[in-house]
Amino acid sequence: MNSTPLLFLGILAGLAASWWGMVVAPKLQIGSAPTVVLKETGQHYPPTRPGVAQQGAEVYRSLGCNTCHSQIVRPEGYGHDLLRGWGPRRTVAQDYLRDQPIMLGSVRVGPDLANIATRMGSGDSNAQPAMVAYHLKHLYHPRTVMEGSVMPAYPFLFEKRRIVEGPSPDALKLEGAYAPEAGYEVVPKEEARVLVAYLLSLKSSASLVEAPVIPPPTNAPVKAANTASIATGGPSR
Ligand code: HEC
Repeated sequence: MNSTPLLFLGILAGLAASWWGMVVAPKLQIGSAPTVVLKETGQHYPPTRPGVAQQGAEVYRSLGCNTCHSQIVRPEGYGHDLLRGWGPRRTVAQDYLRDQPIMLGSVRVGPDLANIATRMGSGDSNAQPAMVAYHLKHLYHPRTVMEGSVMPAYPFLFEKRRIVEGPSPDALKLEGAYAPEAGYEVVPKEEARVLVAYLLSLKSSASLVEAPVIPPPTNAPVKAANTASIATGGPSR
């Protein structure tokens, strides 16, 4: 008996079933998930990234930052991400609704960046300029702020130029071997600025129904559960 058609049909059915299970079913389940409205602030989550941060995402992508940095906090029991302080909770599908493409990353030569904005204090507007300066210096040459760092330097995101009428306010404060020669200064190009705006928009720390933020135990009286409700008709991407 010639069993070729049967074999062909079997393979086709196998492929169709896996396509359905791994592509179509997840798409139906979470592909058009709506944003949620957070109870405590009344704002949609995840928020839209500011335009500059969206441009920064493209720079992040073009430089391949995600080859060394993930943006995913694993749940307890699947690694020590929470203990390392990479986020107050695991990340869930909801966190990535606004991202296109989603740059999860799978290799962690450097720390996870899913919450780099909260980790480095961007919530406090007074701390913002200091954080921007820190990230710019780090990108210019990681060893200016982190001794022995193996992260590559990105000096091409900056411009070295002659100081004409006094130093620019946004010139990097570089010391020692990293400082430019006298009479010159290093200023960030647009790519560096938008990239830092993107880094400071990376924040997956809102308390969600599927991933609540559990505050560390205290003796204070228990507050009402911190939950979010599904918004109707919110943007869904
Ligand atoms: C070859 C791997 C590699 C690449 C590529 C890389 N990084 Fe890193 N990154 C690291 C390592 C290792 C560290 C930890 C040491 C340090 O802070 O410099 C780090 C640290 C960082 C930190 C500080 C994180 C923290 O928790 O202190 C930020 C922010 C960062 N990288 C952003 C970027 C951005 C943006 C890019 C792309 C322009 C990038 N990295 C590309 C390896 C890499």
